[in-house]
Amino acid sequence: MLEDFSRRTFAKLAGLALGIAAAPAKADETPAQPAAGRLASGSFPSGFIWGTATSAYQIEGAVNEDGRGRSIWDTFSHQQGHIADGTNADRANDHYHRYKEDVGLIRELGVKAYRFSIAWPRVFPEGAGAPNPKGLDFYSHLVDELLANGIEPYATLYHWDLPQALQDRVGGWQSTETSKAFADYAAYVAERLTDRVKTIFTINEVGRFVNFGYGLGIDAPGLKLPQKQLNQVRHNVALAHGLSVQAVRAHGHAGTKVGPAENIAACLPAIDTPENVRAAEIATRELNAGFLNVILEGKYTDHFLAYAGANAPTFTEDELKIIGSRNDFIGLNIYAPQFYVVAAEHAPGFSVLPFPSSFPHMSSEWLRIGPETAYWVPRLAAKIWDVETIYISENGTSSSDEIRPDGKIYDLDRIMYLRNYLTQLQRAVAEGAPVRGYFLWSLMDNFEWIFGLEKRFGIYHVDFETLVRRPKLSASFYRNVIARNAIDV
Ligand code: NOJ
Repeated sequence: MLEDFSRRTFAKLAGLALGIAAAPAKADETPAQPAAGRLASGSFPSGFIWGTATSAYQIEGAVNEDGRGRSIWDTFSHQQGHIADGTNADRANDHYHRYKEDVGLIRELGVKAYRFSIAWPRVFPEGAGAPNPKGLDFYSHLVDELLANGIEPYATLYHWDLPQALQDRVGGWQSTETSKAFADYAAYVAERLTDRVKTIFTINEVGRFVNFGYGLGIDAPGLKLPQKQLNQVRHNVALAHGLSVQAVRAHGHAGTKVGPAENIAACLPAIDTPENVRAAEIATRELNAGFLNVILEGKYTDHFLAYAGANAPTFTEDELKIIGSRNDFIGLNIYAPQFYVVAAEHAPGFSVLPFPSSFPHMSSEWLRIGPETAYWVPRLAAKIWDVETIYISENGTSSSDEIRPDGKIYDLDRIMYLRNYLTQLQRAVAEGAPVRGYFLWSLMDNFEWIFGLEKRFGIYHVDFETLVRRPKLSASFYRNVIARNAIDV
């Protein structure tokens, strides 16, 4: 499963450019340290946006209600052997019926923002063609409820629940028909929600669902495509991103902000030297060449194309222009450090170090602990792509979350994780990294994809029998951070 695949497999699947030409690292290209000390110790800037996040399929349930079409995750989760604990999200948190209660939970935290996703198959049950107005009504009501409670809505258009009809009809993301259908869906949503939703995330974690869903076959739709086709899928998704950015601008209210929410391949200097920092910059571009870099630079890197060779995606200059449409921000999902790098004499100027088997992780084995990820990733991203606004669109952890005899959950490991990551994020912000907000994953325990309901990421516990929600200790921790707009240092 997730833990088993090696970084090299990941790099291969992602079409990443390991071990190919680039200028050797040069110390004199290292960025100057951003000005430090503008913030009081541990403080975040005033107006920093504290939020929390969820996604549609992971919490909503109600999969057969109000005209919703099937998604590839409905199909996949019902096929035997795909989900570790044999569960599916037919009911999940039943958020569809309990959204008002859940908005109450958000309000209790004191957060200012909530990132949720819209289920494409609720809005277009067939993926394209006739919309289902009742589908969008649900989100419209949710948005009203959030605003009535003083919470700013941030909507994601695609968090992996592709309409099954598109998978069946055109092969899903294997076809640019899906990219175009996504743009139509984006336009439809933008027209109807951006009077109230000011920020739209286009597509969540391309790096995950393309590789795992179309390459390794362990996420929906469970395909194991050869490299050339996999690269084409990723290209079609990048095209969908660009088309949807344009659609939101063309059909949304003026001033609507739009950008991606990506699990950037997190490249960190193993040891903080100018040479290694430069190497981490090179690695960040090259190891994100297939999505984040091409949408932000409007072209594939030379290394990516050389490495892919005959497996490079087929594309036109016009497509690259669309893919490179300007983003208002970048959303970065930050969990584990993925690649510790050092400078290398050989091209492309960095080497990736192997992880020792004793490297610590959280209760999810893939979630290695590297708090400095929250420092280096925004700092390097801001430098490389010259972005003015970064959101940490997800950060959080699973925990074993035992319920004690007093009925409480003392998730001290989650608090440890959050405290350390937030401390490093504060360091980045204090040094000038343009991070404007942070969305903790997740508001409440939910359906954790191939791990089912057993891996719990919430700061509210959910009993999946009774559906009762209750705060864990981490909810108090987060409430305290938000109230003080600061982290203990
Ligand atoms: C990122 C994904 O966007 C989200 O759906 C998932 O639950 C978390 N990572 C935790 O694995």
